[in-house]
Amino acid sequence: MNPQLDTFLAQAQSVMVGELNGSSSKQETKASFGLPTEEEDPWDKSQPRVHVGVDLGTAYTVLAVLDEQMQPLAGEYRFAQIVRDGLVVDFHGAISLLRELKQNVEARLGFELTTAATTYPPGVPGTEVRATRHVVEAAGFEVAHVVDEPTAANAVLQIENGAVVDVGGGTTGIAIFRQGQVIYTADEATGGTHFSLVIAGAMNLEFEKAEALKKDPRQHKRLFPIVRPVMEKVGSIVARHIAAHPVETIYLVGGTALFSGIERVVQEVTGVPTVIPGHPLFVTPLGVAMHDT
Ligand SMILES: Nc1ncnc2c1ncn2[C@@H]1O[C@H](COP(=O)(O)OP(=O)(O)OP(=O)(O)O)[C@@H](O)[C@H]1O
Ligand SMILES: [Mg+2]
Repeated sequence: MNPQLDTFLAQAQSVMVGELNGSSSKQETKASFGLPTEEEDPWDKSQPRVHVGVDLGTAYTVLAVLDEQMQPLAGEYRFAQIVRDGLVVDFHGAISLLRELKQNVEARLGFELTTAATTYPPGVPGTEVRATRHVVEAAGFEVAHVVDEPTAANAVLQIENGAVVDVGGGTTGIAIFRQGQVIYTADEATGGTHFSLVIAGAMNLEFEKAEALKKDPRQHKRLFPIVRPVMEKVGSIVARHIAAHPVETIYLVGGTALFSGIERVVQEVTGVPTVIPGHPLFVTPLGVAMHDT
């Protein structure tokens, strides 16, 4: 595994701007990461070589920027329902959201972002991969690479052997690695949205309220019994896919890995040691950015 992982993800967390747990986090990153200060020309046309990753997700659309040394520099994310089960369902929404994220990040950095890499869940048809590419192009990027999600995630994790399980908003993606290469992938429709739906049903709340409650770590203890069956479902999906490809460790990434205790349930159901490497929410988008070369 990547020996720098914790530092890398902590730095990413500190430069990302967005809404988590319902409150906006706007960090001042300019001084600490060597960006132009107000006194310098904010639109310096000599552009540093940066690496940009775009991840259009069911729940979060993320724009991540790495510096020349592939270290987290800036980024922004937004909750938006523009993708369902890996397919772009709201083209206009996706393009205008991505344009906005691009402009905001450019304003903070003081230079234009020109190229980007983007990603798709394994197993989606080629037409969908092209649709994703078109969204990123329409938002004003030249698309340097299009990479599948687990390969992107593993650029950050650098796992040689094991299963990377990305529990996102809409789906659970599984990728099995042997000697650092993907040998098997699958993607199934169970994710954080289902957690929120179950909470909404059990507590008679609107979806948005349930979603907000779920993202508050202080609520996790009391919500745990309600969402446990969905965690078990995630575990049984993983168990089925690793049956033919035994692994020694499961690495959980994706936003839903933030729900306290999910790794214990997945470990219980699969019988395989399960860990959450660092902050799991931005692993895939950061790995996508590493593919903008
Ligand atoms: N603190 C938290 N606790 C529990 N769940 C969380 C937390 N923060 C975010 N989530 C959930 O994580 C999910 C989003 O994760 P992620 O950004 O990885 O998904 P996505 O890429 O948008 O979806 P997909 O990969 O399925 O297309 C949402 O369901 C969100 O509610
Ligand atoms: Mg995702």
